[in-house]
Amino acid sequence: MTTSDRIKNAQLRAKVMSAEDAAALIENGEIVGMSGFTGSGYPKALPKALASRIEDAGEDLKIGLWTGASTGPELDGALAKANAIVSRMPYNSDPAGRDRINKGEIDYLDMHLSHVAPMVWEGFFGKLKTAVIEITGIREDGSLIPATSVGNNKTWIDCAERVILEVNSWHDERLEGMHDIYYGGALPPNRVPIPLVSADGKIGQTTFRCDPHKVVGVIETFLPDRNAPFSPIDETSRTIAGHLMDFLEHEMKMGRLTDRLLPLQSGVGNVANAVLDGLKDAPFHDLKAYTEVLQDGMLDLLDCGKLTFASATALSLSPEGAERFRNNLEFYRDKVLLRPTEISNHPEVIRRLGCISMNGMIEADIYGNVNSSLVMGSKIMNGIGGSGDFARNAFISMFVTPSTAKGGKISAIVPQASHVDHITQDVQVLITEQGLADLRGLSPKKRAEKIIENCSHPDYRPMLRDYYERAKRDSFGLQTPSLPSESLSWHQRFIETGSMLP
Ligand code: COA
Repeated sequence: MTTSDRIKNAQLRAKVMSAEDAAALIENGEIVGMSGFTGSGYPKALPKALASRIEDAGEDLKIGLWTGASTGPELDGALAKANAIVSRMPYNSDPAGRDRINKGEIDYLDMHLSHVAPMVWEGFFGKLKTAVIEITGIREDGSLIPATSVGNNKTWIDCAERVILEVNSWHDERLEGMHDIYYGGALPPNRVPIPLVSADGKIGQTTFRCDPHKVVGVIETFLPDRNAPFSPIDETSRTIAGHLMDFLEHEMKMGRLTDRLLPLQSGVGNVANAVLDGLKDAPFHDLKAYTEVLQDGMLDLLDCGKLTFASATALSLSPEGAERFRNNLEFYRDKVLLRPTEISNHPEVIRRLGCISMNGMIEADIYGNVNSSLVMGSKIMNGIGGSGDFARNAFISMFVTPSTAKGGKISAIVPQASHVDHITQDVQVLITEQGLADLRGLSPKKRAEKIIENCSHPDYRPMLRDYYERAKRDSFGLQTPSLPSESLSWHQRFIETGSMLP
């Protein structure tokens, strides 16, 4: 076995082993905390070796899997296909994992991402047995150089009984210095303020601490991150972005924002990525991002100089974006900083900085309750992710979506959301290609009128008006007029006929 020059600590160099030998250490039924966040910085060799213990050796093996958020096909995909996951938290976007969750074969705990690390520290979820963390390298002093995501790695390393490291030389060594790992946290009643007062502030160190005695194996790899590509930006997304830019300009004219805006947060998915594209030609400058993931759209903004700094917990780049990032790493080195998710998504910091939050959604109801996660109220798409961390604490919280899905068979604006991730109080602006509803300061009935008229698709608008008028006439109470026997009938019709249209 060769040892690359990425492992500079002799004690840890002596622990290099094959992925198969490391995977053999994992026991049936244990909880494993792995690195990884949106297809970045996840272990790629050990999970596949674990899957092969089941698929090739026929072993009976199932683990509880914790990560930062979604990962890639070599981790979530391989383990879900092998049926190796009994429980999963806090976020999944892998199709094989999603399928097993929706068949009831994986117990899935979908959480606010900022809650995960503190709750693990507080002991709410029991003992974490093994941490499996992908890193860029190990320094002489045994500290670990993070890779393309930070996520919950610090917590897994600190809380696990034992640690397995994947040192992946595919990651560029120049990543060293692009991380800010904060070790100032404590549990109640000893918590102190997080001393971060600007998106580009540094409050931590560049590496993870790790007790070398806890490390039971080190695997060497050379394997690329595999993030999914974004869809090409279509006319619908462009129109949504246009409405959002008009709104920000209006806020500037009203004196509520300056042309430097406030730190931007942009969520996962195609629409949120497309919205960033709209900023390229908007009359703002010297922008900063304090966000969860850095997508291609953010790179474009850094490249053209609109964005001067981006703080995130992970890169979430398409394969082309990842290539661009690597090729221009010198340029990005002092403009991008990756932090633990408990800091990137911390309510205290988000509220202090006054983030402008822009997230995708599945559907919203006429009162502005937003469903980000469950199709027809029961089938998971991905999860709430960090959208709740940002939405509740943002300076302005916006949700974006096309007004219909599945070729017009589904309306994104419905009489009642089939599941609620973001209550109406956390939703200030709704945007579809049809228009924008500024809901700030509006009572429920005024919200309903604005959402129906500004955001719904013309195919569904008359149905929404009709429902709302009858609800105002027949509702039990008139604070939020509703007809409970009918309010979810659109979803039921879709389940029965494949369309929400009558
Ligand atoms: N009903 C059924 N399916 C819907 C739907 C609805 N109302 N709205 C969207 N979808 C489906 C789309 O059809 C598409 O399905 P496909 O992959 O089979 O084509 C999929 O959801 C993605 O939709 P798209 O319009 O491309 O939007 P997106 O890529 O921007 O994703 C979310 C939208 C809601 C799925 C995504 O934003 C998400 O997972 N959000 C929750 C997590 C989050 O906000 N994190 C932010 C972190 S800070």
